[in-house]
Amino acid sequence: MKIIVAIDGFSSCGKSTLAKQLATELGYSYVDTGAMYRAVTLYFIRNQVDLFHPDQVLNALSNIAIEFKPSHGKPGQETYLNGENIEHEIRVNPRIASAVSDISALSDVRRFLVKQQQAYGNNKGIVMDGRDIGTVVFPQAELKLFITADSKVRAQRRLEELIEKGQSTTFEEVLANLEKRDYIDSHREDSPLMQAKDAIVLDNSCMTKEEQFDWVMKLINQKLAQANG
Ligand code: DC
Repeated sequence: MKIIVAIDGFSSCGKSTLAKQLATELGYSYVDTGAMYRAVTLYFIRNQVDLFHPDQVLNALSNIAIEFKPSHGKPGQETYLNGENIEHEIRVNPRIASAVSDISALSDVRRFLVKQQQAYGNNKGIVMDGRDIGTVVFPQAELKLFITADSKVRAQRRLEELIEKGQSTTFEEVLANLEKRDYIDSHREDSPLMQAKDAIVLDNSCMTKEEQFDWVMKLINQKLAQANG
């Protein structure tokens, strides 16, 4: 029997890297829900959707189709918006990073995406990461992880990622953006980022990716033994 692994936590604490590793190891599918909110944000920016006009928001959502396709030569997948590969743009465009938290606070946007996310989990065998996976999308998930790390450690990791992708930015800018996003994500009315009661907390500030992976795989093997027991 397959299980659902729900991974939530603050911005840039390595949720996606961990989720990808786990999905590869288990032969499960992987869904990065942050990419879905980023895709909606890109569409809204390009089409100048006014967030204060629900009719504009609903109309825009009705024109959005998001898909994931496997990346070539590396684990994980790439995000497509209405057939266009937007993977690079949603990761590096600073306008996306600054608008995504406000757009993902809209209930219409959340309803639209949560429905799709729940459909991905119909057959279990999925690792999904985001902010509300253990609380809203899959409250019945067999394993819920809540990942956290010191904000300065997270900012440094994110800065290195952006520089690798050719962006020029500073540690201070990255730190300010992620602290602002964490605040908005944790304080919004609809599905704020919070730890599910039955989530296991993992602070990875001082852990390597390998240590984190091994730690989580032990938990997963216990859950699988229980599910199949
Ligand atoms: O995981 P990420 O940094 O790519 O997510 C981008 C933003 O999307 C994040 O700041 C909040 C929002 N988000 C959300 O509200 N709910 C989710 N399940 C995933 C992301």
